[in-house]
Amino acid sequence: MRKPIMGGNWKMYKTAREAVQTIEDLRERMEGVEEIEVVVFPPFTVLGLAEKILRDSSIGLGAQNMHWEAGGSYTGEISAPMLVDLGCRYVILGHSERRRYFGESDERVNKKIKSALTFELIPVVCVGETLKERKEGSFKRVVETQLNLCLKGIGPEEAERMVIAYEPVWAIGTGVTATPEQAEEMHSFVRELLAKLFGEDLADSMRIQYGGSVKPQNIKELMREPDIDGALVGGASLDASSFARIVKYGE
Ligand code: 13P
Repeated sequence: MRKPIMGGNWKMYKTAREAVQTIEDLRERMEGVEEIEVVVFPPFTVLGLAEKILRDSSIGLGAQNMHWEAGGSYTGEISAPMLVDLGCRYVILGHSERRRYFGESDERVNKKIKSALTFELIPVVCVGETLKERKEGSFKRVVETQLNLCLKGIGPEEAERMVIAYEPVWAIGTGVTATPEQAEEMHSFVRELLAKLFGEDLADSMRIQYGGSVKPQNIKELMREPDIDGALVGGASLDASSFARIVKYGE
Protein backbone atom coordinates (compact mmCIF):
# COMPACT_ATOMS: atom_id res chain seq x y z
CA MET A 1 0.00 0.00 0.00
CA ARG A 2 1.11 3.52 -0.75
CA LYS A 3 1.52 5.78 2.26
CA PRO A 4 -0.12 9.14 1.51
CA ILE A 5 2.27 12.09 1.42
CA MET A 6 1.28 15.71 2.08
CA GLY A 7 3.77 18.45 1.29
CA GLY A 8 3.66 22.14 2.14
CA ASN A 9 5.52 24.21 -0.47
CA TRP A 10 6.02 27.62 1.09
CA LYS A 11 7.52 29.14 -2.06
CA MET A 12 9.07 32.62 -1.40
CA TYR A 13 7.14 33.31 1.80
CA LYS A 14 8.00 33.75 5.48
CA THR A 15 10.82 35.41 7.37
CA ALA A 16 12.69 33.36 9.97
CA ARG A 17 10.42 34.50 12.81
CA GLU A 18 7.24 33.69 10.88
CA ALA A 19 8.59 30.32 9.78
CA VAL A 20 9.58 29.30 13.32
CA GLN A 21 6.10 30.13 14.59
CA THR A 22 4.37 28.13 11.87
CA ILE A 23 6.67 25.12 12.18
CA GLU A 24 6.31 24.97 15.97
CA ASP A 25 2.55 25.21 15.61
CA LEU A 26 2.51 22.51 12.92
CA ARG A 27 4.70 20.23 14.98
CA GLU A 28 2.19 20.34 17.82
CA ARG A 29 -0.75 19.75 15.52
CA MET A 30 0.95 16.79 13.85
CA GLU A 31 1.74 14.90 17.02
CA GLY A 32 0.46 11.34 16.73
CA VAL A 33 -0.04 11.55 12.95
CA GLU A 34 1.83 8.54 11.61
CA GLU A 35 -0.30 7.15 8.83
CA ILE A 36 0.44 10.17 6.60
CA GLU A 37 3.89 11.38 5.60
CA VAL A 38 4.06 15.14 6.16
CA VAL A 39 6.81 17.28 4.65
CA VAL A 40 7.45 21.02 4.74
CA PHE A 41 9.42 22.83 2.05
CA PRO A 42 10.39 26.23 3.52
CA PRO A 43 12.68 28.71 1.74
CA PHE A 44 16.42 27.96 1.88
CA THR A 45 16.97 30.70 4.48
CA VAL A 46 15.04 28.89 7.21
CA LEU A 47 15.96 25.25 6.53
CA GLY A 48 18.52 25.20 9.34
CA LEU A 49 16.05 26.63 11.86
CA ALA A 50 13.30 24.29 10.68
CA GLU A 51 15.58 21.26 11.08
CA LYS A 52 16.16 22.09 14.77
CA ILE A 53 12.44 22.30 15.46
CA LEU A 54 11.56 19.16 13.48
CA ARG A 55 14.49 16.99 14.61
CA ASP A 56 12.51 14.63 16.84
CA SER A 57 9.22 14.88 15.00
CA SER A 58 7.71 12.81 12.23
CA ILE A 59 7.54 15.84 9.91
CA GLY A 60 10.05 15.68 7.07
CA LEU A 61 12.04 18.60 5.70
CA GLY A 62 12.63 19.45 2.07
CA ALA A 63 13.95 22.19 -0.21
CA GLN A 64 12.20 23.77 -3.16
CA ASN A 65 15.05 23.51 -5.67
CA MET A 66 18.76 22.72 -6.00
CA HIS A 67 21.61 22.76 -8.51
CA TRP A 68 22.61 19.59 -10.38
CA GLU A 69 26.30 19.79 -9.53
CA ALA A 70 27.60 18.77 -6.11
CA GLY A 71 29.70 21.93 -5.93
CA GLY A 72 31.35 24.51 -8.17
CA SER A 73 31.43 28.13 -9.29
CA TYR A 74 27.68 28.70 -9.49
CA THR A 75 27.00 31.95 -7.66
CA GLY A 76 23.74 31.92 -5.78
CA GLU A 77 23.12 28.20 -6.10
CA ILE A 78 22.75 25.39 -3.56
CA SER A 79 23.67 21.73 -4.09
CA ALA A 80 22.28 18.38 -2.98
CA PRO A 81 25.03 17.69 -0.40
CA MET A 82 24.39 21.13 1.10
CA LEU A 83 20.72 20.25 1.53
CA VAL A 84 21.58 16.90 3.08
CA ASP A 85 23.95 18.72 5.42
CA LEU A 86 21.04 20.92 6.54
CA GLY A 87 18.89 17.90 7.35
CA CYS A 88 16.75 17.80 4.21
CA ARG A 89 15.42 14.46 3.00
CA TYR A 90 13.29 15.76 0.10
CA VAL A 91 13.64 18.24 -2.74
CA ILE A 92 11.03 19.62 -5.13
CA LEU A 93 12.33 19.54 -8.71
CA GLY A 94 10.84 20.96 -11.89
CA HIS A 95 8.11 23.03 -10.27
CA SER A 96 6.19 24.95 -12.94
CA GLU A 97 7.28 28.27 -11.39
CA ARG A 98 10.91 27.25 -11.89
CA ARG A 99 10.13 26.18 -15.45
CA ARG A 100 8.22 29.37 -16.23
CA TYR A 101 10.27 32.08 -14.52
CA PHE A 102 13.76 30.55 -14.46
CA GLY A 103 13.88 28.69 -17.75
CA GLU A 104 14.17 25.29 -16.15
CA SER A 105 14.06 22.63 -18.87
CA ASP A 106 13.24 18.93 -18.61
CA GLU A 107 16.91 18.22 -19.33
CA ARG A 108 17.98 20.27 -16.31
CA VAL A 109 15.34 18.66 -14.14
CA ASN A 110 16.71 15.29 -15.25
CA LYS A 111 20.23 16.25 -14.16
CA LYS A 112 18.89 17.53 -10.84
CA ILE A 113 16.93 14.32 -10.20
CA LYS A 114 20.08 12.28 -10.80
CA SER A 115 22.09 14.41 -8.41
CA ALA A 116 19.34 14.30 -5.75
CA LEU A 117 19.24 10.49 -5.99
CA THR A 118 23.03 10.24 -5.79
CA PHE A 119 22.92 12.10 -2.49
CA GLU A 120 19.93 10.11 -1.26
CA LEU A 121 17.44 12.92 -1.35
CA ILE A 122 13.87 12.04 -2.34
CA PRO A 123 13.00 14.07 -5.44
CA VAL A 124 9.43 15.32 -5.74
CA VAL A 125 9.25 15.67 -9.51
CA CYS A 126 6.62 18.12 -10.78
CA VAL A 127 4.82 17.83 -14.12
CA GLY A 128 1.72 19.51 -15.44
CA GLU A 129 0.17 21.31 -18.40
CA THR A 130 -0.73 24.97 -18.91
CA LEU A 131 -4.27 26.22 -19.48
CA LYS A 132 -3.56 26.61 -23.20
CA GLU A 133 -2.37 23.01 -23.43
CA ARG A 134 -5.43 21.81 -21.52
CA LYS A 135 -7.75 23.75 -23.84
CA GLU A 136 -5.97 22.55 -26.97
CA GLY A 137 -6.28 18.98 -25.76
CA SER A 138 -2.51 18.32 -25.85
CA PHE A 139 -2.21 17.96 -22.06
CA LYS A 140 -1.53 14.23 -21.96
CA ARG A 141 1.16 14.50 -24.59
CA VAL A 142 2.76 17.41 -22.71
CA VAL A 143 2.88 15.51 -19.42
CA GLU A 144 4.14 12.38 -21.17
CA THR A 145 7.02 14.33 -22.74
CA GLN A 146 7.90 16.01 -19.44
CA LEU A 147 7.92 12.72 -17.59
CA ASN A 148 9.91 10.83 -20.22
CA LEU A 149 12.57 13.55 -20.45
CA CYS A 150 12.78 14.17 -16.69
CA LEU A 151 13.15 10.47 -15.91
CA LYS A 152 15.53 9.61 -18.76
CA GLY A 153 18.29 7.23 -17.70
CA ILE A 154 16.80 6.59 -14.27
CA GLY A 155 16.53 2.94 -13.27
CA PRO A 156 13.77 1.21 -11.29
CA GLU A 157 15.86 0.90 -8.11
CA GLU A 158 16.23 4.71 -8.09
CA ALA A 159 12.68 5.45 -9.19
CA GLU A 160 11.42 3.57 -6.17
CA ARG A 161 12.41 6.49 -3.94
CA MET A 162 10.85 9.17 -6.11
CA VAL A 163 7.57 11.02 -5.70
CA ILE A 164 5.74 12.52 -8.69
CA ALA A 165 3.57 15.61 -8.33
CA TYR A 166 0.95 16.30 -10.98
CA GLU A 167 0.37 20.05 -10.83
CA PRO A 168 -1.73 21.52 -13.63
CA VAL A 169 -0.39 25.06 -14.05
CA TRP A 170 -3.92 26.45 -14.46
CA ALA A 171 -4.80 25.24 -10.97
CA ILE A 172 -1.78 26.70 -9.16
CA GLY A 173 -2.59 29.73 -7.04
CA THR A 174 -5.76 30.36 -9.04
CA GLY A 175 -8.36 28.94 -6.67
CA VAL A 176 -9.45 26.68 -9.54
CA THR A 177 -8.79 23.08 -8.48
CA ALA A 178 -8.86 20.25 -10.99
CA THR A 179 -12.00 18.23 -10.34
CA PRO A 180 -11.31 14.87 -8.70
CA GLU A 181 -12.19 13.25 -12.06
CA GLN A 182 -9.79 15.46 -14.03
CA ALA A 183 -7.03 14.81 -11.50
CA GLU A 184 -7.66 11.06 -11.38
CA GLU A 185 -7.61 10.83 -15.18
CA MET A 186 -4.12 12.34 -15.18
CA HIS A 187 -2.86 10.41 -12.17
CA SER A 188 -3.84 7.07 -13.68
CA PHE A 189 -2.28 8.21 -16.97
CA VAL A 190 0.96 9.11 -15.14
CA ARG A 191 0.92 5.70 -13.44
CA GLU A 192 0.57 4.01 -16.84
CA LEU A 193 3.58 5.98 -18.08
CA LEU A 194 5.55 4.97 -14.98
CA ALA A 195 4.59 1.34 -15.64
CA LYS A 196 5.99 1.61 -19.17
CA LEU A 197 9.24 3.00 -17.77
CA PHE A 198 9.69 0.89 -14.64
CA GLY A 199 7.21 -1.98 -14.76
CA GLU A 200 3.76 -2.31 -13.28
CA ASP A 201 4.72 -3.40 -9.77
CA LEU A 202 7.01 -0.47 -9.22
CA ALA A 203 4.53 1.99 -10.76
CA ASP A 204 1.92 0.65 -8.34
CA SER A 205 4.18 1.42 -5.41
CA MET A 206 5.08 4.98 -6.47
CA ARG A 207 3.27 7.94 -4.99
CA ILE A 208 1.69 10.61 -7.15
CA GLN A 209 0.68 13.84 -5.43
CA TYR A 210 -1.82 16.33 -6.76
CA GLY A 211 -1.03 20.05 -6.55
CA GLY A 212 -3.08 23.12 -7.43
CA SER A 213 -5.42 25.07 -5.10
CA VAL A 214 -5.72 22.25 -2.57
CA LYS A 215 -7.66 23.39 0.50
CA PRO A 216 -9.20 21.76 3.56
CA GLN A 217 -12.52 21.96 1.67
CA ASN A 218 -11.48 19.90 -1.34
CA ILE A 219 -8.85 17.46 -0.07
CA LYS A 220 -11.25 14.74 0.98
CA GLU A 221 -12.81 14.25 -2.44
CA LEU A 222 -9.39 14.33 -4.12
CA MET A 223 -8.01 11.69 -1.74
CA ARG A 224 -10.95 9.41 -2.51
CA GLU A 225 -9.55 8.84 -6.00
CA PRO A 226 -7.55 5.63 -6.29
CA ASP A 227 -4.43 7.11 -7.91
CA ILE A 228 -4.14 10.29 -5.83
CA ASP A 229 -1.64 9.59 -3.06
CA GLY A 230 -1.37 12.98 -1.43
CA ALA A 231 -1.10 16.67 -2.17
CA LEU A 232 1.55 19.31 -2.73
CA VAL A 233 0.03 22.40 -1.18
CA GLY A 234 1.09 26.00 -1.73
CA GLY A 235 -1.01 28.84 -0.28
CA ALA A 236 -3.04 26.72 2.13
CA SER A 237 0.13 25.28 3.70
CA LEU A 238 1.35 28.68 4.94
CA ASP A 239 -1.07 28.52 7.84
CA ALA A 240 -0.43 25.64 10.26
CA SER A 241 -4.08 25.10 11.09
CA SER A 242 -5.16 24.95 7.46
CA PHE A 243 -2.29 22.63 6.48
CA ALA A 244 -3.03 20.39 9.47
CA ARG A 245 -6.66 20.16 8.35
CA ILE A 246 -5.53 19.13 4.88
CA VAL A 247 -3.34 16.41 6.39
CA LYS A 248 -6.43 15.21 8.23
CA TYR A 249 -8.48 15.21 5.00
CA GLY A 250 -10.41 18.33 5.95
CA GLU A 251 -11.50 17.23 9.43
P1 13P B 1 -1.36 26.46 -4.52
O1 13P B 1 -1.78 25.40 -3.53
O2 13P B 1 -1.15 27.80 -3.88
O3 13P B 1 -2.28 26.49 -5.70
O4 13P B 1 0.09 26.03 -5.07
C1 13P B 1 0.30 24.74 -5.50
C2 13P B 1 1.75 24.51 -5.72
O5 13P B 1 2.36 25.13 -6.57
C3 13P B 1 2.43 23.53 -4.86
O6 13P B 1 3.72 23.25 -5.29
